[in-house]
Amino acid sequence: MRTGCPAADHKSMKLLARSRERQVGRPRSAAEPGSTTTVPATAPQGTGPGGPAAPAIIELARVEKVYGSAGGKRRGKGEVGGGRGIGFPALSGVDLAIAAGEMVAITGPSGSGKTTIINLIAGIDRPTAGTVTVNGSRLDQMTEEQLAVWRGRTIGIVFQFFQLMPTLTAAENATLPLDLARLGPARERRAVASRHLAAVGLGDRGGRLPLELSGGEQQRVAIARAMACDPPILLGDELTGNLDTGLAQDMFELLKGLNENGTTVVYVTHDQALAALASRIVSVRDGLITGDTGRRP
Ligand SMILES: Nc1ncnc2c1ncn2[C@@H]1O[C@H](COP(=O)(O)OP(=O)(O)OP(=O)(O)O)[C@@H](O)[C@H]1O
Ligand SMILES: [Mg+2]
Repeated sequence: MRTGCPAADHKSMKLLARSRERQVGRPRSAAEPGSTTTVPATAPQGTGPGGPAAPAIIELARVEKVYGSAGGKRRGKGEVGGGRGIGFPALSGVDLAIAAGEMVAITGPSGSGKTTIINLIAGIDRPTAGTVTVNGSRLDQMTEEQLAVWRGRTIGIVFQFFQLMPTLTAAENATLPLDLARLGPARERRAVASRHLAAVGLGDRGGRLPLELSGGEQQRVAIARAMACDPPILLGDELTGNLDTGLAQDMFELLKGLNENGTTVVYVTHDQALAALASRIVSVRDGLITGDTGRRP
């Protein structure tokens, strides 16, 4: 059963501390603020286990992202005039629909907008224009606090540099999202985290600090932490960028396993061999989607 709990990234944790005070006693089944029940049935174009007709779990429609501008209009090539000076257009009209159960690789040159797309899907960042709908919620209409709670229930994220808490052991890191959500008694939370650590092959490393683990082991702890609350969507941004090829392949076996168990997986990679492991490859260049193996003609 998917429970959902806070994503253990720094932004989420800070916002969660604030929102929790107001959220105590809020039923888990309550509709999320900003949620919409209508995700267009025409949107999905994936080839995952759900097939092309499966509803989109992630949908970006006409998304533009301009950094350094609060929503200005395009003025000329490469420049956007906002209320606070010139902004940089990182995304210039992205349409992307991903069906539940897909495993999608996002690839493209440095600076093309890959991380921006991941951050928009995670609700870490907001579009300047267009709509972002994930798991039935319109992220562009939600407040930061609503997003923090939503993110914890919906998204697991793994970054290139792991972002583990250095003073916590592997087991404590893997338990963190459950602790933040205060999901069940402490003993049960530890048991759940131990199961996740064992699932990534680290059953015997729970007592170690991140510094006492190899890069591959740290990344596996990060995956265990991302999956702590069994989110329906796992996002990875160059999650194997720091690992050698063999370890990167191992990591993708883990992702494949999660995907086969129903998790929608979207990951950014520069590595064409790793991109080819996905069931669908989306290519990004200069803020636009220039290729999509999942698209129907
Ligand atoms: N916070 C920011 N402020 C201003 N510009 C930004 C910001 N974040 C990203 N950009 C710019 O937006 C563009 C897209 O950035 P993004 O991080 O999405 O690229 P990327 O495809 O992930 O690149 P890489 O492969 O190097 O990680 C880049 O040109 C980048 O310089
Ligand atoms: Mg990036």
